[in-house]
Amino acid sequence: MNGKTTALIGGLALLCLIIGGMVGSRMKVDNNISARTVADYLHAVIEADRTFYTQHIVERMEDMLIVPVSEKWREEQGLPLPVQFLRESSESLRALDAPFRYRLVSLWPLNSQNAPISPEEKDALEQVVKNGDVVEMEVMLDGQRYFKAIYPDRAVSRACVSCHNAHTEAPKRDFRLNDVVGGLVIQIPLE
Ligand code: HEC
Repeated sequence: MNGKTTALIGGLALLCLIIGGMVGSRMKVDNNISARTVADYLHAVIEADRTFYTQHIVERMEDMLIVPVSEKWREEQGLPLPVQFLRESSESLRALDAPFRYRLVSLWPLNSQNAPISPEEKDALEQVVKNGDVVEMEVMLDGQRYFKAIYPDRAVSRACVSCHNAHTEAPKRDFRLNDVVGGLVIQIPLE
């Protein structure tokens, strides 16, 4: 991976963290702001970064044969998959002590760890796929109440479609551009 690409990815990740941190601290100072509004802000930032990363980094780097996109990106000195980019940035929020988390799930996961974690989450995800719209709910986790929203995660780029349809573990191989591939789950603790 060349220096420019690394700098670009680093810059994007930093932007994500800074905006994430700002949203998190605002929730503490202003109790009137609803959890849904916070989730919508987070979603807008995450989706914008995810789309940019996939369309302008992953797809271009692959087309120009500059660097491969690989599940083993660390070992193979490639680019992280879009899902890995998202997971890494969500993980690094722990270091900032941010109260919220996000992850990708799917009814047709390439990685079984990305399947819905409960029957309720599966039902909600089915609604998201069917209607292409966000579904919200409240859940209890370790004695703490959380607001949880699942937003549709769409195949915004040719790269999403070709990679998911061609993967050896793919349970579904007929995704088309703009289809809902899965859901972006955002969880925010409620006081
Ligand atoms: C180069 C291949 C590749 C590209 C490009 C890609 N994905 Fe994936 N995606 C994967 C793999 C492999 C996984 C599972 C790996 C993991 O969890 O570490 C995954 C995971 C996911 C998941 C979680 C459920 C699952 O299947 O495990 C969603 C949702 C998802 N991708 C959607 C998308 C969308 C939308 C795009 C385009 C913006 C995209 N992917 C681009 C390969 C790809």
